[in-house]
Parts: sequence; structure tokens; C-alpha cells
Amino acid sequence: MNIAVYPGSFDPITNGHLDIIRRASRLYDKVVVGVLTNTSKRPMFEKSQRVDFIKRSTADLGNVEVAFFEGLLVDFLRKENAKVIIKGLRATSDFEYEFQMALVNKQLCPEVETVFLSSSEKFTYLSSSVVREIGRLGGDVSMFVPPEILGDVNRAMHGE
Ligand code: PNS
Repeated sequence: MNIAVYPGSFDPITNGHLDIIRRASRLYDKVVVGVLTNTSKRPMFEKSQRVDFIKRSTADLGNVEVAFFEGLLVDFLRKENAKVIIKGLRATSDFEYEFQMALVNKQLCPEVETVFLSSSEKFTYLSSSVVREIGRLGGDVSMFVPPEILGDVNRAMHGE
């Protein structure tokens, strides 16, 4: 079975992430979305909520699982029996950092491959931090996050 891991903070999941998950789910037998708390960022949403948001947004995708992980990404891949890391690239500015991470992960675990999917042109501007900023300032995030989680995201961000 060809298993891929799509890692990230997903604070919260955006339509850009969902597009990558959907496309990856057509390429691999199973996609495990690996949710972690980045040690250098304080998340807006609790990890259990971030996992729940992704589960609800991907409920129609039978070969997608969602799990929280801590520690090294390559250790999570070993645990999940996965050989592929999926990353979405929005622009060339993402490339340098992602290329470095791909090389580090290859060094840590040579049998792992990082596969880059180019983000859809509709979502090149989108990131979780943009969603958090707009939400914090009272803006409408309905075109940026999956409809299944919009109510909860709004409630968490401005108590609606
Ligand atoms: O959504 P993010 O916060 O940009 O995702 C970053 C993530 C989770 C992909 C990255 O922080 C990661 O892989 N962390 C796991 C720790 C690790 O394995 N580090 C070594 C590789 S540089």
C-alpha cells in the first residue's frame, strides 16, 4: 500500500490545504494528514480542534486519515508505514525552505521521498496566518475555509 503523509500545523485548515489533500488522495492509496504544534508558534486552535476540523472537512474522502504527532516527521512516517511526504508549493518563495526540509528529511531517512504538489492558482495567496489575521480583525473568512468548519471558526475567532 502506497501511503503518503501531509504534515502541517493546520491552524486552521484552509481551502488551499483541502485542495492538496483531495489531489493527494487520488494519487496514493492512503493519505495521513499529520497535525503538529510547531514549537515556534503558539496555535490559535487547540490540537484536538485542528484535528476535528480536518476530519470534518475530509469526511467524504474514504482514504484520508488525520492524526496528531509530535517529534520528527520521519518518525511519524515510520510509524504510519509511509514513504512519501506531501507538500504544497504556492510560490517560489516557499521553495527554498521546503527544499531544505526535503533534504534534511532525506538525510534523516533516505527511503522517504518528498513530493511537491503545486497549489491551485485560486489558492496561491492563502495561508492559515492570513485566515487568522482576517478573522481576528473581524473579516469574513467564508471563502478561505471549508464550509463544514466555518461556523466553529467564526465562533472561536469572534464569538459568533
Ligand atoms: O504548517 P507548517 O507549520 O508550516 O508545517 C511545518 C511542518 C510540520 C511541516 C514542519 O515543522 C515539520 O516537519 N516538523 C516536524 C519536525 C521535524 O521533523 N523537523 C526536521 C525536519 S526540518
